[in-house]
Amino acid sequence: MELKKRSSISLPSISSPLSLHILAAWLLLLTAASVGPAQCIRSNSHLSSAQDGGGDTEEFKYSAAACRAHTASLTDFGGVGDGATSNTAAFRDAVTHLSQFASDGGGMLYVPAGRWLTGPFNLTSSFTLFLHRDAVILATRNINEWPVIDPLPSYGMGRDGPGGRYSSLIGGSNLTDVIITGDNGTIDGQGSSWWSKFHGKKLKFTRGYLIELMHSDQIFITNLTLLNSPAWNIHPVYSSNIVVSGITILAPLHSPNTDGINPDSCSNVRIEDCYIVSGDDCVAIKSGWDEYGIDYGMPSQHISIRRLTCISPTSAVIALGSEMSGGIEDVRAEDITAINSESGVRIKTAVGRGAYVKGVYVRRMNLHTMKWVFWMTGNYKSHPDNKYDPNAVPVVDGVSYSDVTAYNVTMAARLEGIPSAPFRGICVSNVTVELRKARKLPWYCADVEGVSSGVTPAACASIADQGDSAAPCPFPTDALPIDEVQFQECTYRI
Ligand SMILES: *[C@@H]1O[C@H](CO)[C@@H](O)[C@H](O)[C@H]1NC(C)=O
Ligand SMILES: *[C@@H]1O[C@H](CO)[C@@H](O)[C@H](O)[C@H]1NC(C)=O
Ligand SMILES: *[C@@H]1O[C@H](CO)[C@@H](O)[C@H](O)[C@H]1NC(C)=O
Ligand SMILES: *[C@@H]1O[C@H](CO)[C@@H](O)[C@H](O)[C@H]1NC(C)=O
Ligand SMILES: *[C@@H]1O[C@H](CO)[C@@H](O)[C@H](O)[C@H]1NC(C)=O
Ligand SMILES: *[C@@H]1O[C@H](CO)[C@@H](O)[C@H](O)[C@H]1NC(C)=O
Repeated sequence: MELKKRSSISLPSISSPLSLHILAAWLLLLTAASVGPAQCIRSNSHLSSAQDGGGDTEEFKYSAAACRAHTASLTDFGGVGDGATSNTAAFRDAVTHLSQFASDGGGMLYVPAGRWLTGPFNLTSSFTLFLHRDAVILATRNINEWPVIDPLPSYGMGRDGPGGRYSSLIGGSNLTDVIITGDNGTIDGQGSSWWSKFHGKKLKFTRGYLIELMHSDQIFITNLTLLNSPAWNIHPVYSSNIVVSGITILAPLHSPNTDGINPDSCSNVRIEDCYIVSGDDCVAIKSGWDEYGIDYGMPSQHISIRRLTCISPTSAVIALGSEMSGGIEDVRAEDITAINSESGVRIKTAVGRGAYVKGVYVRRMNLHTMKWVFWMTGNYKSHPDNKYDPNAVPVVDGVSYSDVTAYNVTMAARLEGIPSAPFRGICVSNVTVELRKARKLPWYCADVEGVSSGVTPAACASIADQGDSAAPCPFPTDALPIDEVQFQECTYRI
């Protein structure tokens, strides 16, 4: 097939490893000068018309962790964006074609405006999937197009039931440097038929997710809208160095298990500037399920979540667990807004999970219409089977919440640890909760220990008030390595 040469950012020619280093330094300087503070990805995205060799071309500028030397459009592979023609072969052929450039500057697949119906397809390394702002990738409703794949080793079975699971719409395994981005283009999972089959117990296998990348490093998912996933939306698993930024996720408020972003046995994750409306947790940090997760032994750690807005009337704004059998450590959440959600940052675990949740830091939450501001559960009843180890008792230690205001709340807190292993090191400071109706016991606490200061209404006796002059709860002052990753400005002409 003859592909049109599509231009990308022009770079000085590279002749030696030394000049590569110089180039890298030059790029770093450029981005440092234009991007600003490390934690903010800014770009002046725009679409403009320009003259290029006499023909009208559109020029896209977009920011990404890497620009690509080779580009192709889905239409080069026979793609038809009419919402009815299948593009499964076009997507698969395009990725296969672009995979040859992994060690030659990388490849980008451009998805133009249109409605692109497709079955599941996998991505490749050093690759960008870019969606035009009016592009919609539509997941096929034909269940026969969804391959059935092995369960995750850290779960032992599918999350909906025993055995395998349907693959995710967009997948990939053992990849390095993958970007899924666009000018707020859309990926629509068309999940309603999956939800009704799930409710009617008519599915043989666990539902697929919208995006799942496994065993991968350097994953960047930015500037997209995700709609109506069959189940979870974004699921990086056994992966590291991940940025999820500027993502809008929308699912009906009562759609089953439509979690927003679920880092699972992942390290170095940065989630920022996301708006999520979901039938389940907006963000859920996980690391495997009971004996399977304990055997696999891969934690989720060094995770930062900022500027998240969540609407989730039946679930948490951020959940830790319930699958946490590889351990969860060093989670930082700040500038969290929620409207009409069940609880704020919730810990869910159970005897049989083993492992730990430790080093959780939360500050600056603004919550409106909540059932519980603080919720911890030590007897979450969900096990893969009855083979879990009753001696695998999880440890919860070191959870800080500060600078929280909450309005129209039913109960300030429901903290239930494990009798044989109370949750320790809970710190709550500078918190104001306005209850919808006054209550005699706005805090319920059992098997938890910690300290508080400046909390209204006052916390329970086991989260003992230290007085107003007590030090505020800790929050780490160092940056995570993933916070230092900067985005570059890339140009693409069509
Ligand atoms: C995608 O990759 C997974 C894991 O390597 C594999 O099981 C699955 O069959 C692949 N899917 C497609 C559509 O090629
Ligand atoms: C992918 O990576 C995992 C973990 O490193 C490894 O066990 C597995 O064999 C790899 N799969 C392939 C297809 O290379
Ligand atoms: C992206 O599109 C969604 C859905 O139309 C919209 O709600 C959101 O505001 C858009 N985001 C940006 C940054 O334009
Ligand atoms: C991506 O989203 C960020 C905010 O999340 C915004 O600053 C940036 O302009 C967006 N870029 C594009 C290409 O839309
Ligand atoms: C307490 O939290 C509020 C926000 O909820 C914030 O405006 C205020 O500065 C905090 N006070 C202190 C002493 O940090
Ligand atoms: C307060 O919460 C209740 C019950 O959750 C809800 O029905 C009501 O609309 C909320 N009030 C406001 C002002 O948001």
